[in-house]
Amino acid sequence: MPFPRVIPHSDGAGVVDATGGGVDPARIGHRVWIYGAQSYRPFGTAARLAVVPAHLAVDLPADATDEVGACLGIPGITAHRTVFADGPVDGLTVLVHGVLGGVGALAAQLARWGGAAVIGTVRPAGDLQRVNMDAVDRPGPGPTRPGRPDPRGRPRRSRPDHRGELLGQHRPRRHGRQERRRRRRLRHRPRATHFPFWPMLFDNLTIRLYGSDDFPP
Ligand SMILES: NC(=O)c1ccc[n+]([C@@H]2O[C@H](COP(=O)([O-])OP(=O)(O)OC[C@H]3O[C@@H](n4cnc5c(N)ncnc54)[C@H](OP(=O)(O)O)[C@@H]3O)[C@@H](O)[C@H]2O)c1
Repeated sequence: MPFPRVIPHSDGAGVVDATGGGVDPARIGHRVWIYGAQSYRPFGTAARLAVVPAHLAVDLPADATDEVGACLGIPGITAHRTVFADGPVDGLTVLVHGVLGGVGALAAQLARWGGAAVIGTVRPAGDLQRVNMDAVDRPGPGPTRPGRPDPRGRPRRSRPDHRGELLGQHRPRRHGRQERRRRRRLRHRPRATHFPFWPMLFDNLTIRLYGSDDFPP
């Protein structure tokens, strides 16, 4: 562990109980949502009380429940970055893979808020009823992959301008020598992510990678 004692979890919601030096005491009693509490810090939100720098506690609007506030940290900020990292999406088509998930649901809402047309995927067809958007049932094993331009000029199927897909979190940067040795001993290889290189190259695609602990402010 990076600290001798760690209280996990970065996200939460609650009421400001006390303020430290230099922080406006008028914030006491305000409902807030918290993010990044245990990002590069030892003490997170799996506790009754959490202490965070003032900017990590954001006022929560009266119409947002604590449950919503407590889910805005990693999922909400990741969703926002996923949709808007390359600029406005107004007029674009955005594909959200796994639209019923924590991140996916927020990404779809943010993309629509930003003026995009949103295409979402779900896994079981029965989940289509749970999606509050125009739904198309596309039988098959997985989402359609973008293909190369047709050499005979036949019309291509439409494809999104922007595709938000979240893979599991890997933190190889943080694996020191000791951790790498441990992994070798355990014969656990870090999982590799494979991309279909040639189709992506011919489509001139951009891949953007995300690590929610390290988004720029
Ligand atoms: N890079 C980062 O900084 C960062 C930050 C946050 C999250 N993440 C990653 O993002 C992913 C999603 O996180 P989450 O919290 O949103 O998880 P989640 O709430 O479990 O959502 C995942 C969603 O994807 C759906 N799904 C799975 N396979 C699918 C498929 N083949 N086709 C369509 N939908 C499929 C799941 O449906 P079912 O319920 O049917 O399984 C579920 O609704 C995770 O891998 C997480 O580690 C990364």
